[in-house]
Amino acid sequence: MLDLLVAPLATAVAARLGRLPGEIAPLIGPPAKGQGADLALPCFQLAKSANRNSAQLAADLATLEVPGMALSAAGPFLNAALQPATVAGVLLPVLAGDPLLCLRRDHGEGKTVCIDFSSPNIAKHLAFHHIRSTMIGNALARLYGACGWRVVRINFLGDWGTAFGRLISAWHREGLTLAQLDAAPDRVTFLNELYVRASQAEKADPAKEADSRRWSKALEDGDAEARHLWQIFKDASLAEFQRIYALLGVGFDSWKGEAFYEDKMGAVLAELESRGLTKVDQGATVVDLSALGLKKPMLLRRADGGSLYATRDLAACDDRWKDYAFDRSLYVVDLGQALHFKEWFACAALLGRAYADRLRHIGFGIVLLWNDEPGEGLEPGWARGRTRGGKVMLLREVLEESVDRARAVIAEKNPGIEGDERERIARAVGVGAVVFNDLKNARTNDVKFKFEEALRFDGETGPYLQFAHARLCSIERKFREAFPQAPAGDPARIARDDEKAVLIAIARLGSALDRAVESDEPSQLAQGLLALAAAVSAWLTAGSKDDTARVLVEDAALAASRLRLVRAARAALGEGLRLLGLEAPERM
Ligand code: ARG
Repeated sequence: MLDLLVAPLATAVAARLGRLPGEIAPLIGPPAKGQGADLALPCFQLAKSANRNSAQLAADLATLEVPGMALSAAGPFLNAALQPATVAGVLLPVLAGDPLLCLRRDHGEGKTVCIDFSSPNIAKHLAFHHIRSTMIGNALARLYGACGWRVVRINFLGDWGTAFGRLISAWHREGLTLAQLDAAPDRVTFLNELYVRASQAEKADPAKEADSRRWSKALEDGDAEARHLWQIFKDASLAEFQRIYALLGVGFDSWKGEAFYEDKMGAVLAELESRGLTKVDQGATVVDLSALGLKKPMLLRRADGGSLYATRDLAACDDRWKDYAFDRSLYVVDLGQALHFKEWFACAALLGRAYADRLRHIGFGIVLLWNDEPGEGLEPGWARGRTRGGKVMLLREVLEESVDRARAVIAEKNPGIEGDERERIARAVGVGAVVFNDLKNARTNDVKFKFEEALRFDGETGPYLQFAHARLCSIERKFREAFPQAPAGDPARIARDDEKAVLIAIARLGSALDRAVESDEPSQLAQGLLALAAAVSAWLTAGSKDDTARVLVEDAALAASRLRLVRAARAALGEGLRLLGLEAPERM
């Protein structure tokens, strides 16, 4: 939408320089802070091609007359300050037609993106750190969708491996039954504990280890009993995952996990071998990637014949290519696996796969939790994945505690909200706090999580954005009561700079969305929304101090004009939150 504001300036400059507006518009961006301007055109490039001095060119351009804009030169920059009514006159009618237009793009139309995210290992809990892949992936899916892409959400479950042989072996040894598993308060915990007992038992007794290896082999060979138990373990884990995904509002289009590719890896291996790309190194099969600048060869098959993660990812990618013919394929996986992706992407290139340059590893940093009750050998402070006496925090526990805390804050701040509604809002705010804390900074940074910080209603938090949204909703409700027969409102009555700032922040969201998709970086939109919420809050705070600045002034026509701005900002914040995977309650 910013392009609508930029266009008259670009046209005027282009006419003066004998260029096309389309050449000028992309050069116009936000001004440096404290310039009192809304748009800036850096003149370096234009001056160079015209063989002129850039400060002189800026000064020359500042003499242009553009209706509704005050132009000035600041060194090599041409700055433009727009009149509030001009901005409102351009943006409000468009937003009245479609309030979501500020967060819609169409450059993805006709294109497909596969997003592999969350992808946890089964028979284990989702630990707190799983929030990262899950919610970065979820946000990217929605952001790409808002740009017109067809999005395929893939949960590449880690449902294969020696862990299952171990579980099956211990299950038999302990004579466990399905009834016992079903009666457990938490089936994943039941399986986890079984796994821990099994590993300990195997360490002490080679015969037990041999038994679990036998079961692993049986599972690979498709033995009916092994398969049956594996399916039970998998279903129990999935049921637990689904509860958490439901709380987070996350869904998937494909659940094909690692096991699905078990019988499809032989073909990939054979292809690599027949093309002479493999070698045998101490019994293991490897691919030499030195031609692609990777010193270490990539492991394809272990000496004992077991196939590996990289081979599985290659087989899965061939399958996705066949099913979806994607234009881009994203793997939202922590930076610790960067080498793995580098290697098998290189291997895809070596194999001449048409999709090789469409693959992107979307890495991210680790989560640090505030550890306030130190356990043995742990000082209070930031700790990786652990808190509360050094115990690993489960994602479900963090979300539940956050919802509990949000419920308490809402009960205190707004005792009028009760029952189901309070529960719904507590969930939206509690979950939103955790999710936004994760998305607000560049994804490759490590994330620090502390309940008190993430749940603050002021500061850079999800609840802060949700609160700004709820405040705007409340003004809309009051407006309907105060002016049941309201006039339409007139953009020409928008005259304040703080109102203009809200409009400009809305107009900038579109380019924040572009950057978010181009760099697979949800924080770009998160920061745009924080800027919008700050502008909204400055405007509304001015209104609480100065009666003439209020939205609900006595003059119905002026109130209605300001209400159009309230509505536009509310819709933009609500949609922006939704794109990041947060809910936007109407009261809180
Ligand atoms: N299950 C893996 C893990 O927990 C992550 C899988 C990521 N996706 C992929 N295609 N390799 O580490």
